[in-house]
Amino acid sequence: MKVFQIGAAGGVGRPLARLLTARGDEATGMHRAPAQAEVIRESGATPVTGDLIHDSVAELAAKLAGYDAVVFTAGAHGTGMELTTAIDGDGLVKAAAAAAEAGVRRFVLVSVFPDAGRDRETSEGFEHYMRVKKDADAHLVRTDLDWVIVRPGTLLDEPGTGLVSADLAIGYGSVPREDVAAFIDAVLHEPALSRVIVELTSGTTPVGEAAARLAGR
Ligand SMILES: NC(=O)c1ccc[n+]([C@@H]2O[C@H](COP(=O)([O-])OP(=O)(O)OC[C@H]3O[C@@H](n4cnc5c(N)ncnc54)[C@H](OP(=O)(O)O)[C@@H]3O)[C@@H](O)[C@H]2O)c1
Repeated sequence: MKVFQIGAAGGVGRPLARLLTARGDEATGMHRAPAQAEVIRESGATPVTGDLIHDSVAELAAKLAGYDAVVFTAGAHGTGMELTTAIDGDGLVKAAAAAAEAGVRRFVLVSVFPDAGRDRETSEGFEHYMRVKKDADAHLVRTDLDWVIVRPGTLLDEPGTGLVSADLAIGYGSVPREDVAAFIDAVLHEPALSRVIVELTSGTTPVGEAAARLAGR
């Protein structure tokens, strides 16, 4: 399988590339800064330059042509409301349009768990982030793409366990980035799992089993 990663140099993107290439898939990782090419190469993917803000839909579509799937894990990462709108919001809209134009139907998006932030005092920026993420999900749901939206709980940098809780609705929790990557890897290899929104936290079910169960196997 040929997978195009948007957000490849990030905390979820890098372990995902490692998993994909370890199982013999081809991963290409889009990056902005020239220095990130090496980071992406180290994760096993092939780097290609690109920017969700500056590239046009046609430019993105040209990069996506010939791939089997797009994985979108890009995000503004708390750098301000304007960038959140441009990357997590408009960037997703552009990427989905580019995938459609390039004929790449499979599209996996990492969004956010709707209960995020409930246990702490919120801020205008966080509320904006949650709204933009929800609007991006709603946009993708309305497309004709073969989408899966993964909504992880709080992301952790600790090593993955390979064990998750994944379902249409679950209680809130946290999850290592490596386990989010492992779940996306499993989703990409469960073609019957399509047009669903999945909530994801750490749990007790092996990732492959969790994805297979959701796919009805
Ligand atoms: N933090 C949490 O607890 C949490 C919880 C649930 C969901 N999420 C979501 O999970 C997703 C993945 O998280 P993560 O930890 O992997 O994020 P991350 O480490 O911040 O990675 C995000 C990636 O997006 C890239 N990016 C930013 N702007 C871009 C642009 N204009 N064009 C192309 N790429 C761009 C970044 O590249 P640069 O290095 O060039 O900036 C980076 O590689 C995010 O969408 C986040 O909102 C986070």
